[in-house]
Amino acid sequence: MRIKDAKILAALPNLGVDRVEGASLSDYTSLGIGGTTDLLLIKRRASIPELVRMLDDAGYAHKFLGGGSNLLIRDGELPWVMLHLVKPEPEVRLEGNFAFVDAAADLGRTVTFCAKNNLGGMEGLIGVPGTIGGALRMNAGAYGIQIGTYVREVELYRAASRSLVTLKGDEIHFEYRHTSFALDDIMLAVKLELPSKPFKEILNGIRICNEKRRSSQPLNQKSAGCIFKNPPGASAGRMLDELGLKGLNVGDARVSDRHANFFVNAGNATAAQMLSLIDTVRERVRQSYGITLEEEVIIWK
Ligand code: EPU
Repeated sequence: MRIKDAKILAALPNLGVDRVEGASLSDYTSLGIGGTTDLLLIKRRASIPELVRMLDDAGYAHKFLGGGSNLLIRDGELPWVMLHLVKPEPEVRLEGNFAFVDAAADLGRTVTFCAKNNLGGMEGLIGVPGTIGGALRMNAGAYGIQIGTYVREVELYRAASRSLVTLKGDEIHFEYRHTSFALDDIMLAVKLELPSKPFKEILNGIRICNEKRRSSQPLNQKSAGCIFKNPPGASAGRMLDELGLKGLNVGDARVSDRHANFFVNAGNATAAQMLSLIDTVRERVRQSYGITLEEEVIIWK
C-alpha cells in the first residue's frame, strides 16, 4: 500500500518519520519472505499516537514490524502500511539490577550488554533472533528461560485508547509463547530486573546454550525458528521427525533436515508455498496423532 495523501507525506518529517517507498519486506524478515509496501521508520516514539491517528483518519491500514524473526508475511502488494521503530542510542540503560531497554533493541545484544555488566538470568535467550519488543510480545523462551520472568514494567502504545501506557509487571500475564497484551498493543520499552552474576559465570551459560542451539537448529539457513508451538507434554519437532517429514518441500519452502519444527526458505520460497507446507504438515500430524498443532510463527495473510 502506497501513501498518496499529501497531508500525511508533508507531516512525516516533522513527526521524525522516514518513508521507504515500496519496501520489499523479504529484506526485513529472517525467512526472506514478504511482499511490498510503504515502510515508515519512526525515530521519535512520542509521535506514534499522532502518526496512527493520521493514518486511521485517511483510511490507511497499518501494522508494526519488530525484528521480523518470527514472522511469515504474505506475498505481493500488501494491503497495509508497515511501521517500524528505529533503535535509539543507547538501547539499554542500567541502574543497579534494573535494565531499561528500548523495544527496538536487539535481544541478543541486550543479553550480552547486561552480561558484561554482571547481570544474568537471560543466558538461554542468547541465540533467539529478534528485538526486545518481539520477545516481550511472544514471551520468548529457550532452555528453561522466559523473558517474562524478568519484566517489571512495560511502556506501550495502546491502540484501543490511542495513548501511551505504562503497565507494571504484575498487570501482565506471561505464559508459554503467549502474553496478555492486546494484539494491537505496540511495545515501546521495558524495565527488566536481572539477578547479579559474575560475567564469567554468565558467559559459561551462554556458551552452553549456543552449543546446544548450534548442534540442533539450522542456524545458517533462512527460517522463522519453530513453526508450531509444542503441544502440552510433547515436542512438535520430534513428532514431525517421527513422521519422516524432514526434507518435505513445497517449492523452496522446506522442512529442515536438522530440526523438523524449523521450516526453511531454501532459495526463493513464497509465502504461499510456506503456508501450503504448514497446512500439509499440520494435516499429517492431525491424522497420525489426533493433535492439531498451533502455529508459533506469526502469520500476516
Ligand atoms: N527432536 C527430534 N527431532 C527433531 C527436533 C527435535 O527428535 O527434528 C527431539 C530432540 O532430540 C529433543 C526434543 O525433540 O529430544 C525437543 O527438541 P529441542 O530440544 O530442540 O526443543 P523443542 O521443543 O523442539 C523448544 C522451542 C525452541 C527452543 C528450544 C530450546 C518451541 C516450539 N520450541 O524447541 O524455540 O529454542 O526448545 O529451548 O517451544 C522458537 O520458539 O522458535 C524455538 C526454536
